[in-house]
Amino acid sequence: MAFEIIATGHYVPSRRVTNDDLAQTIDTSDEWIRSHTGIGSRHIASEDQATSDLAVEAALNALEQLAPGKAMEAAKTIDLIVVGTSSPDYYGFPSVACIVQEKLKIENAGAFDVVAACSGFVYSLDAAAGMLRGNRKRALVIGADLLTKITDWSDRGTCVLFGDAAGAAILEKTDAPEEGPGKRGLIRTVLGSEGSGASELLCARGGTRDPFKAGETLDKPIHIYMNGQAVYNFAVRAFTDTIERLLEEEGITFKDVKKIVPHQANMRIIRAAARRLKISEDKFFMNIEKYANTSNATIPVALDEYARSGDLNRGDLIMTVGFGGGLTYAGNLIVW
Ligand code: COA
Repeated sequence: MAFEIIATGHYVPSRRVTNDDLAQTIDTSDEWIRSHTGIGSRHIASEDQATSDLAVEAALNALEQLAPGKAMEAAKTIDLIVVGTSSPDYYGFPSVACIVQEKLKIENAGAFDVVAACSGFVYSLDAAAGMLRGNRKRALVIGADLLTKITDWSDRGTCVLFGDAAGAAILEKTDAPEEGPGKRGLIRTVLGSEGSGASELLCARGGTRDPFKAGETLDKPIHIYMNGQAVYNFAVRAFTDTIERLLEEEGITFKDVKKIVPHQANMRIIRAAARRLKISEDKFFMNIEKYANTSNATIPVALDEYARSGDLNRGDLIMTVGFGGGLTYAGNLIVW
């Protein structure tokens, strides 16, 4: 029994905002953003879009790949919906996964969200695979975020970093081997957490720790607070450790891995990790220049772009690596 990705999809909102566009209203420049982060532009959702709207589009894109012209029919074959998100349509409940279930008219499917910040898609794939071990066959696994609605647009140190997007993968339980020669699909996952760093990256207001009070006037909506330097240091360490652990546990070297599909928060994090690991930056599939940091969506969007590029072939061994708020970190090894 193996857990294989049989289709992928993604969606980005149509409105593309360049660094120069941001510099019209924020004290920043294309030169600063590019040199400090590698970001050139980001896509920003419209006022009337919520995270589930992006998630549904990404899911339809994956279902269309699975069954051209029959995406809604293919949706009926889904037994489980898992959505990694840090920016749900509603606080607490309902989950984005339940809204996706209703919009795609998927019947008889379990649906829930995973909260692991930018590591969420990696966690979600492993959670879905674990739950397919029972009497379920197909899972729709989505990473979706609309962080621009929970961004402090007066904080130039964070607002230039984020964009909106969703990515999806359809994971299927197949008869292929999960171990030994010819093994396929999701073969290994590393999951980690460091709650001691929770305060370095968080949305402080609105939860049960500090709820809004009746009559309170807010000067800012709920927004992301980030200690950039602390998160940067954590990210480089967690990223390299996760990659090394996956290689070591699997007993392989970089030569065996075709590409690493990483979470992309800052190109400098990837560069620093590549230097530490003594590997070329070409080993990473990058698209941060176009989309910025889309949190849970970064890895599945990149995975879909890579899969559709024609360069990823059946049997190739690839790696995903994520890190983010929590703090969390995670990585998958996947035989495509
Ligand atoms: N435009 C222009 N100048 C900016 C700016 C912007 N958008 N943002 C910050 N600056 C300024 C600062 O005010 C500071 O100016 P000063 O020296 O006069 O005080 C200067 O640039 C340097 O700021 P600093 O915060 O030290 O920059 P940095 O090189 O550490 O880069 C981050 C900041 C946020 C890009 C970097 O710390 C980072 O990427 N951290 C990790 C973020 C991350 O991974 N988050 C998500 C995890 S999933």
